[in-house]
Amino acid sequence: MGQATKNIAILGSTGSIGTNTIEVIRSCLSRFRIVGLSAHTSLDELYSQVQEFEPEWVVGTCRTAWDEFQHPVLKDTANLGGTEHLDSLVRADNVDIVVAAMVGSAGLASTYAAIESGKRIALANKETLVMAGRQVMAAARLNQAEILPVDSEHSAVFQALGETPLEQVSRVVLTASGGPFRDFSSADLKNVTIQQALAHPTWRMGKKISIDSATMMNKALEIIEARWLFDLPPEKLGVVVHPQSIVHSLVEFIDGSVVTQMSPPDMKLPIQYALTYPERCTSPAQKTDWTQAVCHELIPADFERFPALELGFEVARQGGTTGAVLNAANEAAVEAFLNGQIGFTDIVASCRTILDHHEFDPNPDLNELIKIDAWARQEIAKWILA
Ligand SMILES: NC(=O)c1ccc[n+]([C@@H]2O[C@H](COP(=O)([O-])OP(=O)(O)OC[C@H]3O[C@@H](n4cnc5c(N)ncnc54)[C@H](OP(=O)(O)O)[C@@H]3O)[C@@H](O)[C@H]2O)c1
Repeated sequence: MGQATKNIAILGSTGSIGTNTIEVIRSCLSRFRIVGLSAHTSLDELYSQVQEFEPEWVVGTCRTAWDEFQHPVLKDTANLGGTEHLDSLVRADNVDIVVAAMVGSAGLASTYAAIESGKRIALANKETLVMAGRQVMAAARLNQAEILPVDSEHSAVFQALGETPLEQVSRVVLTASGGPFRDFSSADLKNVTIQQALAHPTWRMGKKISIDSATMMNKALEIIEARWLFDLPPEKLGVVVHPQSIVHSLVEFIDGSVVTQMSPPDMKLPIQYALTYPERCTSPAQKTDWTQAVCHELIPADFERFPALELGFEVARQGGTTGAVLNAANEAAVEAFLNGQIGFTDIVASCRTILDHHEFDPNPDLNELIKIDAWARQEIAKWILA
């Protein structure tokens, strides 16, 4: 029997995850139809995607860039300028799957709207769960929305866990490539440049996540993401460094068995699995070369040289407002680093200070999280001036 075509909206279609999603869809056009696309500033690229896929919805989330963009054909398509239109797009009846591929806390509102309308969400935007994991997962249960992980580590954990009850899981260990500074001393880390920090050894990604990988804040955010996505107590979570980026994470069960998911570092595989789950189908992702000898290292993570990791575990333990504060402080600090306003090690140091002196609320609502996000960004601005 033929497979029903699924209608997909890609939010952040011009980014690294967005363009990988488009490659996946190109390879199985009989299964998927793109009905919505959104981008922020890369409107030429958005325009060529619109020409290829002719979606019903096109949203430019940066109002200024959108208003300045004058392409006549795009102007004749069903198109909307401004973030607020993402809400209508993700709630549209003919959208089956929302790919949340935008970067940063800007992803929270539209992902939450997709959850409220009971959609399947292929979630790349980990910041949504870092900021508001408890609220987002509660809304998903209430509205029977499916959240399928796109992060390769969480996809691996999802696949390894299967239907096993959580009482039978003793540990979930996320792997980290270790980033470009895996072997740098603490002293060397103080002097790294923007170009060095952006040069990830195994993955090609957007700028923000590349810097997060270099500080290992990415792994801290993923610990928080895993805590909420799989409802795991933080003491069952761990991190190991795996420079080859082939073992995407490991689940240890109470009988001592360790189950993993392995594949070459290629985001097309976890993206496709989030779209086709529970089915598997042939994919354009790179395949394992079984003629080559390989060595898979698993090295204990160094919490002293990479203090972001401790922040991740602290936030996973404390919950409440801490996730939103850490996420916003980190986003603002990464931007400041990329603008040459602060040094590399200031990113995590400033997050630590701001987290330590924020007014903790154990049970905030979404409005409060949005306010505290703005507060943390202001604190980073003060840190830069100090
Ligand atoms: N890249 C990876 O391999 C990877 C792996 C796992 C998880 N993730 C997660 O996936 C998300 C996207 O990462 P990425 O590497 O694909 O980032 P990216 O390459 O920087 O792309 C970000 C996308 O979001 C859009 N965007 C930027 N600012 C926005 C805003 N304020 N409002 C709405 N849209 C905005 C961008 O539009 P324009 O380009 O048009 O400005 C672009 O389409 C992040 O949460 C990241 O942590 C990424």
